[in-house]
Amino acid sequence: MTTADPNPDPYYDDRLIAQDWESYSVEEHAIWRRLFERQSHLLVGRACDEYLAGLDQLGVCADGIPDFRRLNDVLGQTTGWQIVAVPGLISEAAFFGHMAERRFVATRWIRSPAQMDYLQEPDIFHDVFGHVPLLTNPAFADYLQAYGRGGLKALRLGALDMLARLYWYTVEFGLLRTGDGARIYGAGILSSKGESIYCLDDPQPNRIAFDLKRVLRTRYRIDDYQETYFVIDSFEQLMAETAPDFTPIYAELADLAEFEPGDIQPSDERADDMLTDRGSPQA
Ligand code: PHE
Ligand code: FE
Repeated sequence: MTTADPNPDPYYDDRLIAQDWESYSVEEHAIWRRLFERQSHLLVGRACDEYLAGLDQLGVCADGIPDFRRLNDVLGQTTGWQIVAVPGLISEAAFFGHMAERRFVATRWIRSPAQMDYLQEPDIFHDVFGHVPLLTNPAFADYLQAYGRGGLKALRLGALDMLARLYWYTVEFGLLRTGDGARIYGAGILSSKGESIYCLDDPQPNRIAFDLKRVLRTRYRIDDYQETYFVIDSFEQLMAETAPDFTPIYAELADLAEFEPGDIQPSDERADDMLTDRGSPQA
C-alpha cells in the first residue's frame, strides 16, 4: 500500500457488527445442534487431529450456536486470532485486510431446516464449525495471516484469480496426509456431510500431491463436489511452499494455460495410494 493512498484503511470500516448472540432463537440453536451432532460423529477418523483438537479446545459443541466472545477468549490466548461478525459479503480488500490482521470474518446467520445439506453462501455453521477450530493451530494460524497479506498484494497485481485457487484448494478443500491416511482440513469439506465422505471414500475425484504452481493454475467448481483435491504433508510444508514472493510466479503463470478442475497433468503425483480403505488392511 502506498502512503499516498487517499483511503488508507479500507477495511477498518463500519461494517463490523455485533454477533448479538442473545437474539438467536431456540429453533436456531436447535439447527446448530443437529448440524453439530451429525457432523462431529462423521468427522472422527476423517478430520485431521489438529482440527479436532481445536474444536475441543474452543468448547464448540452441540449446546447451541457458539458465542464469539467465548471463542475469542480462547483464540486470544492461543494464536491471537479473533472472530469478527459482518452482515454479509464484504469487499475483497476488507476480507484480506482483516485476515492480514488475524481477524477472521464470519457471518452470524444460520441456515434454515430446508438448507441442511446445501447452501450457496456460507452461514455460521460453515464459518465457525468449518474454519475456526484450525485457527487454534499455530502453523495454520500463520498461514492464514500470510494468505491475507498475499491477498492484498494479489489485488494490487491483478492476480486474485490465481491466488483464490490457493485458498479454495487449501483452506476450503484441502486434504492432509498423515500416518493413518488422508485427513480433511478444508472448511468447505468439514462443514459438508456429503463431501466429507466423498472426498476420502469415493474413487472418482483426483487426489494429487500439493504443488503450488499446479494449484494456482487450476480452476475450481463452486456448484458441486470437487473433481480434484490437493494433499499437503503438513501445515509447515504449506507455509514453506507459499512463502516465496508470488510476484514472479504470477507473471510466469499469466501466459500459461489454466487447467480444468478434473484434468490430470503428466507431472501430477497421485496421492490415492495413501488413502485409507477404512476398514480393509493395506498390503
Ligand atoms: N508468498 C505470497 C506472496 O508473496 C503470500 C502468501 C503466503 C500467499 C501464504 C498465500 C499463502 O504473495
Ligand atoms: Fe469458507
